Amino acid sequence: MQEISEIKQILNKYSPQKENIIKAMHDIQNNNEHHYLSEQALDELSKYFKLTKGQIYGIASYYSMISLKPRGKYIVSICKSPVCTSKGGKKLFEYFEKQLNLKPKTTTDDGLISLEAVECLGRCGKCPSILINNQVYTEMNVEKLQQLLKNLK
Ligand code: FES
Repeated sequence: MQEISEIKQILNKYSPQKENIIKAMHDIQNNNEHHYLSEQALDELSKYFKLTKGQIYGIASYYSMISLKPRGKYIVSICKSPVCTSKGGKKLFEYFEKQLNLKPKTTTDDGLISLEAVECLGRCGKCPSILINNQVYTEMNVEKLQQLLKNLK
């Protein structure tokens, strides 16, 4: 579980202005081993930015990149934009579904991998692209994906 002191430490990196809320949410989420905003994180965000918890919850639930549920140690985000999908991205989603019984927004039973479908990752020239936590991988195919997944522990 993420310590309150760690959440506070992250928040202190940002001035308590509204334009920093999303950045702070991402930072807290990225530093949580389950890649989500816990109830405690929502409480601390609410106090720090002087908004109600309901308002913080509303902001967090609006952005698809922010999760309010615990996720896997590794978040595999596959670009679902038409360019990537038509150049092999669809096969990557099929691989997850057939081999790991994983659809977007679900997590393997062992808590290791969560799958996400995301918008363009800005690497359209080297489609299809995926993101594993913060690392982008381009020109993906099923073989490369299998190799990457093997190394996740
Ligand atoms: S369309 Fe997939 S990275 Fe841009």
